[in-house]
Amino acid sequence: METITKTRSQLRHFVDETDIPNGDWLDLVQSTLEHRTLGHVWHPPVGRSVALLFFNPSLRTRTSAELAVTQLGAHATVLQPGVGVWPFAFTEGEAMDGNEAEHIREAVGVLSRYYDTLGVRMFASMTDYNQDRNEVLMQTFVGASSVPVINLESAFSHPGQSLADAATLVDTFDGDTKAKKFVLTWTYHPKALPMAVANSALLTAARLGMEVTVARPRGYGLDPGVMAVAQDYAQATGGSVTESDDLQASLADADVIYAKAWGGMLGYADPKAESERRSSLTDWRVTGDLMRRTNQARFMHCLPVRRNVVVDDEVLDGRSAIHLDQAENRLHAQKAVLQYLWQE
Ligand code: CP
Repeated sequence: METITKTRSQLRHFVDETDIPNGDWLDLVQSTLEHRTLGHVWHPPVGRSVALLFFNPSLRTRTSAELAVTQLGAHATVLQPGVGVWPFAFTEGEAMDGNEAEHIREAVGVLSRYYDTLGVRMFASMTDYNQDRNEVLMQTFVGASSVPVINLESAFSHPGQSLADAATLVDTFDGDTKAKKFVLTWTYHPKALPMAVANSALLTAARLGMEVTVARPRGYGLDPGVMAVAQDYAQATGGSVTESDDLQASLADADVIYAKAWGGMLGYADPKAESERRSSLTDWRVTGDLMRRTNQARFMHCLPVRRNVVVDDEVLDGRSAIHLDQAENRLHAQKAVLQYLWQE
């Protein structure tokens, strides 16, 4: 089998979207739309298989990945480490005398001998910024694998979501995304959430040449390194990336409002202070009145979403909302990714 003869460094993964060359990434967006419009456009070689490991809950990613594999005629096994599967240890050199019965080296090593590809969801720790920022757990997983790995949401990125989002934006604007105004807005949420989706949405909009504003309260700026990569994309595509702490001003003339809550760097440095600060920011909610200040903007959210906390019913149930299109495109994007990894 092709993948088994490759060294680890030669393997093609779908883990960090910034590792994917622009041409390949745009092909993936088109492939996602082809899978949606043309149906069963491609089938993998007979007998292909995927193990999907979920360390965290999921509705869309889990079902769309499993269904995509089935619809392509391959086999998927969904695993929840710690639930019917041994809990895994990750740390190098540790004495495994606690709850974890199996080290990631053996678990992923074994699964690599059985399956052609591994998918993994591992959220941010929300306690160790450097570990999350550097994707230490995901890189440990990838390093232990001798087959391609698909990131099903890691500490700092959700490339499958952003591929579906890109396809949704390209489709919504008939391919003409350049110069459209894209506002990624922070929203209140009762919990301090990871930054993965926000990072990926920002990079995607910049890569599509959009005029991007990250609207967030003071203290909730995204990682400077991610902002810098987004700036590089914007420079290459003729778009722009700015930040604002004035949500109302940011919305003027917006073509897209992408809502997402995140805990930010303060959530790592001082969780108590972040919690107190966040509880004073409940007005960072997408309402019908806010949407009426835009250029008839489309409303996007990766889901799950808390109604009337993050966004009002009026918006989600209105004609501007395209969150279900995003969710549908997750299925087509999963197939595009498998084709990207498996096509011979
Ligand atoms: N958007 C997303 O990844 O949804 P799930 O967490 O349900 O998979």
